[in-house]
Amino acid sequence: MIETRITKLFGIKYPILCGGMFWVGRAELIAAVANAGGLGFLTAATYPTLEELRADIRKAKDLTDKPIGLNINLFASVRPQPIEEWVQVAIDEKIPVVETSGRSPQAIVAPLHAAGVKIMHKVPGVRYAMTAERLGVDAICVVGHEAGGHPGMDEVTTLVMVPAAADAVKLPLVAGGGFADGRGLVAALALGADAILMGTRFMATQECRGQDAFKDWMVHAAETDTVYCMKSIMNPSRLVKNSVVEKVVEMEKKGATLEEMLPLISRQGPAVVDTGNMEDGLVSMGQAVGLVHDVPTCKELIDRMVEEALSAQERLGGIFKRKAPA
Ligand SMILES: Cc1cc2nc3c(=O)[nH]c(=O)nc-3n(C[C@H](O)[C@H](O)[C@H](O)COP(=O)(O)O)c2cc1C
Repeated sequence: MIETRITKLFGIKYPILCGGMFWVGRAELIAAVANAGGLGFLTAATYPTLEELRADIRKAKDLTDKPIGLNINLFASVRPQPIEEWVQVAIDEKIPVVETSGRSPQAIVAPLHAAGVKIMHKVPGVRYAMTAERLGVDAICVVGHEAGGHPGMDEVTTLVMVPAAADAVKLPLVAGGGFADGRGLVAALALGADAILMGTRFMATQECRGQDAFKDWMVHAAETDTVYCMKSIMNPSRLVKNSVVEKVVEMEKKGATLEEMLPLISRQGPAVVDTGNMEDGLVSMGQAVGLVHDVPTCKELIDRMVEEALSAQERLGGIFKRKAPA
């Protein structure tokens, strides 16, 4: 048992969260994380219609009796539906925790709270964490520069971001970006976090959508196989290093505009995951891919992480000893 402010707040066994992931954060994965003692977030932006979103929430609920969360990305361009409709789905479907990201959650804090839904806001910088705390969310997740998806403009790594955030806010704190095993979990708790959130590591699991060739690429990838790019168009992203991303970087160097880059960057996500052809477009991926060496079930992964965390803690206990009083 690992009890922290986050396990108590969300009613879960282990302080291990699976962040929202466009296209792959679906019922099978999220239910498997829940059944293994963690908490995952179905990703609202994945579904072309509200009916499909509702259907996948219900499917996840059929697969687990543990809490499941919903990721609401507030960044306008990723939303197929108005934000109020996602909020209503979360309320109607009795989702206990919403993970917000992309923009300020200000407009949706009150309606979600009125329905008893807890809010964890995910940010890529300490100053945004402080703002979120003022807005009244229930927990904060900070992600560092290593993270897959959108690690923010500041390029501050998780090792610095987490203790800086722990000093700056009082709310329960989740650390994201670069975590893949139990050593990372212990490190995050030592830095002042109450839980870790992973995206990349959960993509290489049995229950995650994706061709074997895609997961096999992950197993053999190194920590240097991702690229941080698109800062010039205010859309900083960490993605799989491939020929498409290299073209994006080249265009950025030449000062290309968003409109000029759009034909390349609009091919984000699904194709690569579903075809297994790593040159098929852009896909989010964190540096933690270098720590992925197999494709376990979520239960195998989380059980192993808990064992690794206990071993890491024992190792530290053997290193740090208070001097016996003379
Ligand atoms: C394939 C992929 C898709 C993602 N999509 C989203 C998303 O739709 N919304 C969101 O808030 N975060 C998204 N993220 C970010 C993750 O929720 C999480 O913050 C991040 O992966 C943590 O860093 P890690 O990859 O080092 O574990 C995505 C990450 C990945 C790898």
